[in-house]
Amino acid sequence: MGLLESCFSRSYLHIMPSNPLEIVILAAGKGSRMRSDQPKVLHEVGGLPLLEHVLKASQALQPNAIHVVVGHAREQIQSRFNESYFTTAKLNWVVQEEQLGTGHAVMQALPAIDDQANVLMLTADVPLLTASTLEAMLKSMQASPLCLLTACVTDPNGLGRIIRDDSNSPVGIVEHKDASAAQRKIDEINSGILCAKADNLKRWLAQISNSNAQSEYYLTDIVELAADEGSPITAIQAADSDEVMGINDRIQLAQAERRYQLQRAKALMQSGVTIIDPARIDIRGEVTIEADTVVDINVVIEGPSHIESGCTIGPNCVIKASQIGAGSTVHPNSVLEQTIVGKSVNIGPFARLRPGTDLADEVRIGNFVETKKAVIGKASKVNHLSYVGDASVGQNTNIGAGVITCNYDGANKHHTHIGDDVFVGSDAQLVAPVSVDDGATIGAGSTI
Ligand code: UD1
Ligand code: CA
Repeated sequence: MGLLESCFSRSYLHIMPSNPLEIVILAAGKGSRMRSDQPKVLHEVGGLPLLEHVLKASQALQPNAIHVVVGHAREQIQSRFNESYFTTAKLNWVVQEEQLGTGHAVMQALPAIDDQANVLMLTADVPLLTASTLEAMLKSMQASPLCLLTACVTDPNGLGRIIRDDSNSPVGIVEHKDASAAQRKIDEINSGILCAKADNLKRWLAQISNSNAQSEYYLTDIVELAADEGSPITAIQAADSDEVMGINDRIQLAQAERRYQLQRAKALMQSGVTIIDPARIDIRGEVTIEADTVVDINVVIEGPSHIESGCTIGPNCVIKASQIGAGSTVHPNSVLEQTIVGKSVNIGPFARLRPGTDLADEVRIGNFVETKKAVIGKASKVNHLSYVGDASVGQNTNIGAGVITCNYDGANKHHTHIGDDVFVGSDAQLVAPVSVDDGATIGAGSTI
């Protein structure tokens, strides 16, 4: 379970807002500053699309439905998230044909939303958003029909500024392009995340216009309308402004990635994993690591992966979709993909374990060994420079240096079976299909 998922999933039960919750996620824009053929919301942080981070946070709040407003490249986005992804909430794809502004985007979702609901409006490009912040917003909805999520930042350039009155209540948001020089000095910005009672939201959005610097229907204009009506407005400031950081270009994408990786590294360290340098580890997707495992520098681990306790992962290893049993060591510069590793196994340095590798306890795979669809029995050794593919190997078998299972005849792949307690001498070639019985000895340089 990922960090974000785990902190969201233990979260929500203690607040039950009286009104049903509907979540609207804005994802229709092009994201032109990414300069990409791929829609912005499919660019990844921690191995997951930006939109997926926001969807995970949304699902954890157990809303009645999640309305995702799509437009630009919508087929690509929709095909990435099929219905089966939405386990806890109904999904409603809402199409915004023309991107006429954030207010216009929210309007497209309103017909599907009941007047009594609370509508939480999120943008799809804020991958670091946390549960506790959204919960605080929902809680404040008991006292006011509109809540803004704001942050104080050192560089507010390009963002909407929060306007407050003499008593410090928020009374409006002015977009950077529409702001006066004095307003541009305000360092409290609009995160783009708001929550409003649906009936009020419908009334306010019906009144907004596009007479502004960008000729867009701004969602942010509802704040002034609410203030004019005398509605109480709550503003919640994110404790850490990075949390609401929106991704608009690849520089911000890289900044969010580092931030996210640091969070995951911290969570692992807090759970008992030693990480030699938390700035030099990359965890992508669903990855779990048990206590007293040590992860050295420049390691990339992609999910779904699980590493049991007391393992050592050496520098520069790449581990994808693999499981590693307790007390195993992966020496430097090894690559594991779709591999199952038993307990007290030794791998590498410089080993390449390809999909379908399954190593029993106490196996030893040495340097410059490649395996693929290879099931290797307890305490067997493949120590040097071998290729073992489409093969099964029994227990306590020794495969000498440079042994090759010749699995491919130019047209088809064939299987090699090697039994228990076999000794295969160095430089032997086993031309598959071939089967070597238990206890056999094969001399060095043989071709079988
Ligand atoms: C918006 C806010 C600004 C805030 C900033 C935070 C408005 C008017 N401004 O500005 O106050 O500081 O976010 O990042 O709301 N989108 C649609 N349809 C549209 C337009 C936008 O779905 O017609 C989506 C985009 O895909 C994006 C989000 O809404 O996910 C925000 O749009 P963007 O154009 O990035 O707004 P900003 O100008 O950044
Ligand atoms: Ca933006």
